Amino acid sequence: MDIVIRPAAPTDLKAVTAIEAACFPAAEAATEESFRQRLAAFTYSFLIAEKDGRPIGFINGCVTNKDELTDDLYESTALHDDDAPNVMVFGLDVIPQEQHQGFAAALMKAYIEKAESRRKKQIILTCKERLIPFYEQFGYECHGKSQSTHGGAVWYDMVLPLPR
Ligand SMILES: CC(C)(COP(=O)(O)OP(=O)(O)OC[C@H]1O[C@@H](n2cnc3c(N)ncnc32)[C@H](O)[C@@H]1OP(=O)(O)O)[C@@H](O)C(=O)NCCC(=O)NCCS
Repeated sequence: MDIVIRPAAPTDLKAVTAIEAACFPAAEAATEESFRQRLAAFTYSFLIAEKDGRPIGFINGCVTNKDELTDDLYESTALHDDDAPNVMVFGLDVIPQEQHQGFAAALMKAYIEKAESRRKKQIILTCKERLIPFYEQFGYECHGKSQSTHGGAVWYDMVLPLPR
């Protein structure tokens, strides 16, 4: 089995849209148009996991001066700035058939390493309650319930401070 974590490219558009639809309910899934914008804008904060040459998962998020993951950030890449201090995670997805093999952990570790090498201040994400322990294993701290109402769900703020 050959696993590669690599930067995403605009040619990944169909693949990431399909992976997102397999992982999230329609109200929470990002659209093809929003991935088109993100693939064009995010130079190092969009990574793909490939198994035997086929994309099976990804992680992505904007980089911003804001220190909270608010719903407006999902809607537009206008607030994205590669040189800003805070790296967000909009989504971490692994297709259901390939889950439980460590691919999400590999994606997250690569994302963290990239943010550290760019001397970022912190990585911020929101997650559902059941995934808090999953993110704590990487060092994320839970800051309580989020203001986010994304997809009508309840979300928790998770923050990973990075050494600078
Ligand atoms: C969450 C998700 C990315 C994990 O992907 P994955 O490739 O299966 O994750 P990994 O194999 O790296 O890690 C799984 C391990 O993390 C830990 N883990 C996962 N969920 C956990 C939880 N709720 N509580 C504690 N530990 C958990 C377990 O140790 C698990 O091991 P197991 O597979 O033996 O049960 C995947 O299930 C997914 O895409 N879900 C749908 C989309 C989603 O909810 N994404 C996260 C919100 S953005």
